[in-house]
Amino acid sequence: MDTKPLIELVGGPSAVERIIYKFYTYVELDKPLRSIYPKDLKPGKEKLRLFLEQWLDGEPQYSNLYGHPRLRRRHFPFIISEENATRWLMHMRNAFESEGLSDEIIATIFERLTPLAYHMVNEGEDIPREPLQDTRLT
Ligand code: HEM
Repeated sequence: MDTKPLIELVGGPSAVERIIYKFYTYVELDKPLRSIYPKDLKPGKEKLRLFLEQWLDGEPQYSNLYGHPRLRRRHFPFIISEENATRWLMHMRNAFESEGLSDEIIATIFERLTPLAYHMVNEGEDIPREPLQDTRLT
């Protein structure tokens, strides 16, 4: 595949913004998944956007603001079942596909994103459920 960073292959930060917007419209319509998310979706939406840009080898904006993602730990307050990880992935795939990306790019992204999503599954685990103190670094 092209050796450009994924963020460029996807279409840059504005494409990520559209993907996150789409993803959240799907989440809002998905009752079981929506019930995990807080009432106000806005702050999380912005964080996911910053994180995704960074994860696609874009600017490390998320870590600049919040430090190491500690992604699994940050999800402890939310009970995530395998089924919900599957739904999350399905919506994310549909959101990426709405950008008209090639099958090759989609496959490259989801080869990495799929294990990451299942890594967030924490249902039935005896773990601290309180949120991480979310101090902004800047
Ligand atoms: C497996 C299914 C997943 C579910 C059900 C889920 C659910 C959630 C929920 C409920 C929040 C809190 C949102 C808020 O406070 O508004 C959140 C935050 C977040 N999620 Fe996920 N998530 C999943 C997988 C992932 C994956 C795979 C990634 C990485 C690509 C990810 C990245 C993030 C980020 C960056 C945040 C913000 C964390 C913070 O700084 O507080 N999530 N997620």
